[in-house]
Amino acid sequence: MSNYEVGVELRWVDAVGYEELTINTGKTIRYQETEVALFRFGSGKVHAIQNRCPHKDGVLVEGIVCDEHVFCPMHDRKIHVPSGLVQKPDNGCVRTYATKVENGRIYIGFPKTEELAS
Ligand code: FES
Repeated sequence: MSNYEVGVELRWVDAVGYEELTINTGKTIRYQETEVALFRFGSGKVHAIQNRCPHKDGVLVEGIVCDEHVFCPMHDRKIHVPSGLVQKPDNGCVRTYATKVENGRIYIGFPKTEELAS
């Protein structure tokens, strides 16, 4: 799942080995100028979101993870990682990225149409 448009063609980027990603601990993945926070939850699911909080750019990969949420380390806003939605009483959202696991590797899908600098 991701919150960009359905039908957008993706470029799948090899991010990290599934077993290398510690459960409930974020990992920063950089692809060209895009920075993503990648999480593997206790359920085994893997999700990727933009690594900056929509409030004041807190680094989400440094946040505390609880269930499928991450708490921004700067002002504690709670973000539902699979949907990217900031939870009430706050509001806003972060971009989510598609993920898949193949042959023990985690891949992140970046839109091919996105302007990415080299
Ligand atoms: S920067 Fe994330 S809650 Fe303020």
